[in-house]
Amino acid sequence: MNQFVVVANRLPVDAGPGGLVSALQPIARSSGGAWVGWTGNPGERPEPFEHEGVHIQPVELSGEDVDHYYEGQSNSTIWPLFHDAVEPPVHRRAWRVAYEAVNRRFAEATASVAAEGATVWVHDYQLLLVPAMLRRDRPDLRIGFFLHIPFPPVELFMQLPRRTDFVRGLLGADLVGFQQPLAAQNFLRLTTQLLGLHPEGERVAYEGRTVTARAFPISIDVAEIEKLAADPEVQRDAARLRKDLGGDRRLLLLGVDRLDYTKGIDQRIEAYGELLADGTISNDEAVLVQVATPSRMRVAQYQQLRERVEREVGRINGEFGDVGRAPLHYLFQSRTRAELVALYLAADIMLVTPLRDGMNLVAKEYVAARRDEGGALVLSEFTGAASELDDAFLVNPYDVDDLKRGIGAAIATGPEELTARMRRMRERVRAHDVDRWARDFLDVLG
Ligand code: ADP
Ligand code: G6P
Repeated sequence: MNQFVVVANRLPVDAGPGGLVSALQPIARSSGGAWVGWTGNPGERPEPFEHEGVHIQPVELSGEDVDHYYEGQSNSTIWPLFHDAVEPPVHRRAWRVAYEAVNRRFAEATASVAAEGATVWVHDYQLLLVPAMLRRDRPDLRIGFFLHIPFPPVELFMQLPRRTDFVRGLLGADLVGFQQPLAAQNFLRLTTQLLGLHPEGERVAYEGRTVTARAFPISIDVAEIEKLAADPEVQRDAARLRKDLGGDRRLLLLGVDRLDYTKGIDQRIEAYGELLADGTISNDEAVLVQVATPSRMRVAQYQQLRERVEREVGRINGEFGDVGRAPLHYLFQSRTRAELVALYLAADIMLVTPLRDGMNLVAKEYVAARRDEGGALVLSEFTGAASELDDAFLVNPYDVDDLKRGIGAAIATGPEELTARMRRMRERVRAHDVDRWARDFLDVLG
């Protein structure tokens, strides 16, 4: 039995990329509790085991659960709807049924490992119903919930079939955390609109309890990134990367994302192509490396994005490339954290241009890696990170001209100002790392 339980769709074992596991892994390790989640493979449920000091409690998803709960309701309904509907959300009754059944399975697995009076911390949009299910079975627990992705404006949320169930699901928690204050306000407004509740400030009374909704902007393990950035081998890799790409005469631009339509990868590549076409930059002066990690590849919208991106990469390299020298290197691959940090150190300009992103940890990792106070960050206004990193070159990713302007401004800015900007961004990220985020949340949860 455990006094502290993390509940998330994915286990922190063989984890692919993704902000949630990156952020929570160090916390679970240091608190030594339990983690309830799915291995990532259908039909697989290993016996519970220990991993880096954490008790791992696997939850099984059948092939059909993966289709309906994970790829369906989670990633074809809720994910797009909560990201400004940048791709149209799809609604299916069978997906909702599976989502509820899987949420129940997670709640039961959690109840089986949580000690009397334990603290349970449920994470993200795959598990919106779990807090209320757990509350019903285990009123002794202290229940926190954190949403890693944006929470949509009220008008968009209202499109969701069975929307009231999801609001009630979250109200099962004692504390509901969001990335942004506006998200917490949207949620509280919905409790009025759908349930006739009367929030006061951050609190709302519900079924004889008080639920608090508040922003806790998530962060990264700064020490881990700084350690990698200080590693001579990582620095050698960074120097080698620069040399291979043309040395100091060629400006290195970098994008690192899951291949996801919320990340603005196609818009970014389009802007880069236009900069080459109108002669603002040439293949001799600049090169773009785009790491796009495979993600949710069975979902049609992700396959279509891949096709769009790969077509555009081919077009740009065909039009502007030379033998032995490509203007755009596209890596549809996963990389280790050390390899990512080497890329961060090598990059003159980091491009983080999502159409919508709850936070975006890549932006913070880039800043943390730049112990040399070098480099420049071009950052979308529509990321949570933009509220903290306003020394970045902020852009509207929907406006290709504005993207080009932001990249141009980063290129044109002198080293002294770049250093001053990076120094201020580093101060912010170092003072608000993921430990502080977790402590803040858990202190309020009590
Ligand atoms: P999201 O959670 O939507 O994927 P974030 O930027 O918040 O976006 O978090 C992504 C996390 O995944 C970061 O910690 C980043 O370092 C990691 N990541 C992204 N791409 C890769 C990759 N190719 N290989 C390994 N880790 C990656
Ligand atoms: C985002 C979500 C996480 C998710 C991750 C990777 O960070 O907020 O909940 O785990 O993307 O996506 P995946 O579908 O592979 O778990």
